[in-house]
Amino acid sequence: MNLGVNIDHIATIREARGTNYPSVLDAATLAEKAGANSITLHLREDRRHMQDNDLYELKPLLKTKMNLELAPVDEMVKIALDVLPEDVCLVPERREEKTTEGGLDLIKKFNEIRDISNDLTAAGVRVSLFITPDIKQIDKVIEMNVPVIELHTGSYADFTGDLKEKELFKIRQAVQYAKKVGLLVNAGHGLHYENVQNIARIKEIHELNIGHAIVAKALFIGWENAVAEMKKIITEYAKS
Ligand code: PXP
Repeated sequence: MNLGVNIDHIATIREARGTNYPSVLDAATLAEKAGANSITLHLREDRRHMQDNDLYELKPLLKTKMNLELAPVDEMVKIALDVLPEDVCLVPERREEKTTEGGLDLIKKFNEIRDISNDLTAAGVRVSLFITPDIKQIDKVIEMNVPVIELHTGSYADFTGDLKEKELFKIRQAVQYAKKVGLLVNAGHGLHYENVQNIARIKEIHELNIGHAIVAKALFIGWENAVAEMKKIITEYAKS
């Protein structure tokens, strides 16, 4: 199972003071050395962490691949078509949210997201759609002919007790269904060092995208150690 390291919150620390440190370029390079299989970043419409320049500077530097998260809006699609990351993950975005709160509604926004996905695919970018673990949404992904999904693990991360178990069950079911119809399945959001194990045990998942918890852990054990420790947990539990 692969680990995609999301470096948005390295940029959050930089933007908090308008400095030029900490360097997102160093963060990406060191994360790759410590075992990251891809570098994930989200260019938000309000530019609260990543800036346009970061994308252009990171792209030639990365030895693994860039997974760019974007809202499905013209401005962002234009940037993606210019930067040409290996992967784009389309995500819903609301300005007032602290982080991506739900999955895309592919039923309501079918035509819009299908057209954007087609444009990106035609440019050689692999498209992934960020959705909640819901079979109806997966059916729309198939109709759109998009090859990858990322399942939102935020509710699993937030819930406790029975609700958490139910959400885990839904994730497992969604993974099995998506694999059966030939999709590549990634997952992420809200995963940390104590809750990632149940998700890593779902062997059919290709990649976990994790950011906030790794940046937080790095404060105490260092960035490379924090990435390596997450990679180790994922690898161990994916085997068990
Ligand atoms: N995957 C997607 C699609 C996201 O939007 C985010 C947050 O930017 C993540 C994964 C990573 O979430 P976290 O920072 O909670 O690990």
